[in-house]
Amino acid sequence: MPKYFMPTTLLSGENCIKRHPRHIIHGKKCMIVTGKNSARVSGALDDVLTVLDEHNVKYYIHDKITNKTNIADIYALGKKMRDEGIEYVVGIGGGTTLDAAKAAAVYATNDIEPMDIYKEKYANLPLRVVCVPTTAGTGSDTTQYVMLTIDDYKNKKSFSSEVCFPYATYLDSRYTLTLPVDVTRSTAIDALCHSVESYLNVNASPFSDIVALEGIRMVGQCAGALIKGEFTKSDREKLLIAASVGGMAVAHTGLNVVHKMGHQLTCDKSISHGFANGLLLTEFIAWCAKADVMRAVDVITAIGMDLSSLKKFMDKVLPSTDDISRDDIERWVKNSIYDDSEPNSPRKLTKEDELEIYTNALLNKKRNYAQW
Ligand SMILES: [Fe+2]
Repeated sequence: MPKYFMPTTLLSGENCIKRHPRHIIHGKKCMIVTGKNSARVSGALDDVLTVLDEHNVKYYIHDKITNKTNIADIYALGKKMRDEGIEYVVGIGGGTTLDAAKAAAVYATNDIEPMDIYKEKYANLPLRVVCVPTTAGTGSDTTQYVMLTIDDYKNKKSFSSEVCFPYATYLDSRYTLTLPVDVTRSTAIDALCHSVESYLNVNASPFSDIVALEGIRMVGQCAGALIKGEFTKSDREKLLIAASVGGMAVAHTGLNVVHKMGHQLTCDKSISHGFANGLLLTEFIAWCAKADVMRAVDVITAIGMDLSSLKKFMDKVLPSTDDISRDDIERWVKNSIYDDSEPNSPRKLTKEDELEIYTNALLNKKRNYAQW
């Protein structure tokens, strides 16, 4: 029987941290994990500090998380938290920062070797983690997954443990108002991909379906804003919630072909994670339709456009693929032999399928989705 487990308390709306402070107070000593800028520029750090001061919580600020932060850095942070007697963690930022907070919380209570975190079994529960996302895409604030960089950006590895769900997440869209248009588009499309990959998935259940379809619908409602690059308060709220909802969906199903194949575009062509996934999404839906047309119809109905319109939308918001060649694609397909992650797609993904999906999505400018 399918189960649904999502222990994270979600608080949303303007000023939710100040309106619901009790979910961010879990002791007298707290470590704030964040990057250099977004927490300060967005106002999120100020709001967190105000509430911690009001409740006499002593805090340390670790504001060194970047996209170069690796597992050794996070291990050192966890050890520091243990040495300082930190009682809980607040992560403020995007997915990399929230994942760093979640992993450091494991190291803080478990004196293990760095790579032992991938055993996914720990003697002690991690410290409680409260998430304050300042981007709207990764869904790290609602999942048990943690992606860490082992050495450089091409070598990332994730783990999954039910004890790594955040304790609470505050969704205040004011913290996303300063996001550049490209980041907003990329993260929104990543969130859309999470929900679609969850719905077109062998692990999908009635519980994950409800969540995934709503996540798809909310991003679809923001399509016009994503094209224009202008976002109302309501758009920002929808995109922020859609990102967390996408996380809730994949927390139960796992990701799928789009993320597996998109990873090659990011590693080889430095295309951002969300854009890389978006470039493959339309073709993925068409490919899945051959196994289960009704569920593919559910997806495009929820987005609010047919596949041809979805492709046109993606063409307007995604970067050009003009510098991608047939040789690139053949190399990616060859490399994927060594990628042992088995996608959860409704069809078995063969090398020929990968070649077809990459080619149709990236090289075939005349691909006609009217007859899918
Ligand atoms: Fe993603």
